[in-house]
Amino acid sequence: MNIFLIGFMGSGKSTLGKKLSDYLNVNFIDLDKYIEFNENYNIKYIFNQKGEKYFRYIEQKYLKHKFKEPFIMSVGGGTPCYYNNINYMNQYGITIFININIEFLIYNLLKNSKDDRPLLISNNKKSLLKDLFINRLFYYKKSKVTINSNNYININSLLK
Ligand code: S3P
Repeated sequence: MNIFLIGFMGSGKSTLGKKLSDYLNVNFIDLDKYIEFNENYNIKYIFNQKGEKYFRYIEQKYLKHKFKEPFIMSVGGGTPCYYNNINYMNQYGITIFININIEFLIYNLLKNSKDDRPLLISNNKKSLLKDLFINRLFYYKKSKVTINSNNYININSLLK
């Protein structure tokens, strides 16, 4: 059984993924890191040099890699919204949407911005990020499971 963790930038997909992976003793894959490792460039460089269209193309390619062992994968905030990826993930695993209050998320994203998320740089205004989130909700809501929270989820209590 595979698990795909879905949600907007900064919603804690990788943090939850790593914890779940330890808890369930299943491999953890961070899709962005997997792309960077295989392409030998970081996401920011790929976006800047080749553009978002190219990034979305390789993103779906690595998402669809046939892994031998079951896995827990955290995907990028945009992954479910391109190339029918959400249907692919629903077919090959349990999709979990981490739905954190968007006002809280944006506040923290802009406050803690580390300059390594290309879409955060181009949408560095609250209203633009909110529009992006609202457009993406259509895809996120296709997940099989949704975890709702007003702030970051308490992972430890989730795993008890
Ligand atoms: C993106 C989110 C990023 C990364 C890329 C694009 C997006 O991942 O895939 O910068 O479209 O929201 P995180 O959600 O892990 O930040």
